[in-house]
Amino acid sequence: MEREKVTIQYLQKKKAKRQKISMLTAYDYPMAKLIDDAGVDIILVGDSLGMVVLGYDSTLHVTMEDMIRHSQAARRGTKSAFLVGDMPYKSYENKADAVRNAKRFIEEAGCDAVKLEGGTESLEAAGAIISSSIQVMGHLGLTPQSIEKLGGYKVQGKTAEAARLIIEDAKKLEEIGCFSLVLECIPSEIAKIITSELDIPTIGIGAGKDCDGQVLVTNDMVGLFDRFLPKFAKRYVNLSDKIMEAISTYKKEVEEGAFPAPEHEFTIKKEELEKI
Ligand code: KIV
Repeated sequence: MEREKVTIQYLQKKKAKRQKISMLTAYDYPMAKLIDDAGVDIILVGDSLGMVVLGYDSTLHVTMEDMIRHSQAARRGTKSAFLVGDMPYKSYENKADAVRNAKRFIEEAGCDAVKLEGGTESLEAAGAIISSSIQVMGHLGLTPQSIEKLGGYKVQGKTAEAARLIIEDAKKLEEIGCFSLVLECIPSEIAKIITSELDIPTIGIGAGKDCDGQVLVTNDMVGLFDRFLPKFAKRYVNLSDKIMEAISTYKKEVEEGAFPAPEHEFTIKKEELEKI
């Protein structure tokens, strides 16, 4: 059965009714289709693409071209979920770049909105994008594009002063018109305060159960990324093991001549064969 298209109003209503919002990342057609068919509310084409699909050691190498190509593929698999494209490193350093690149996500890739990282330092860019009628999701706490400045993948907002800054940034992002905020790797208590003080939905990743919704990197939760598993990520299935089993069986059957079997073959009529 076709489900209702997810809109910002729909997400807003879920927050009002205290119904949790689900969000997962996808970078291609098949995964986006599975996630969409499963009824997940939001699909994020995250710049985690760089690490879990492109094999880089951080998200800093991801380009606009990478993001557009993968967002287009995810779009083809997404019918009802709300599709968010993640603005990569250095794609929103000034207002003009921010607006031009955000427009590419909407016009070339068919995204419903964009996400960008950062608080006070990203307000101008986010504001300019919103003024050009493009919806923006903010991202606070552990923001992987600032990994060098943050000194590694560490929990953010652990002192009163640091937490207060995140809370203030969250309010500023809501004030300029962001429709939602990702809160990554911050103490659950701080995420709870932000969630109760904001009218827009918060989506947590390593930010506890009191956020309005949750997001995970899909490759982490299905076991398709084995370099490391963050403490906050839950692995629901280990697809790497299952795929390895299938590949090993295939290799063995090829080597033993058991594959292809007659049902995988094509044949020519005897009389045609005789003419050759
Ligand atoms: O790039 C990404 O996948 C993200 C999520 C972790 C929120 O930003």
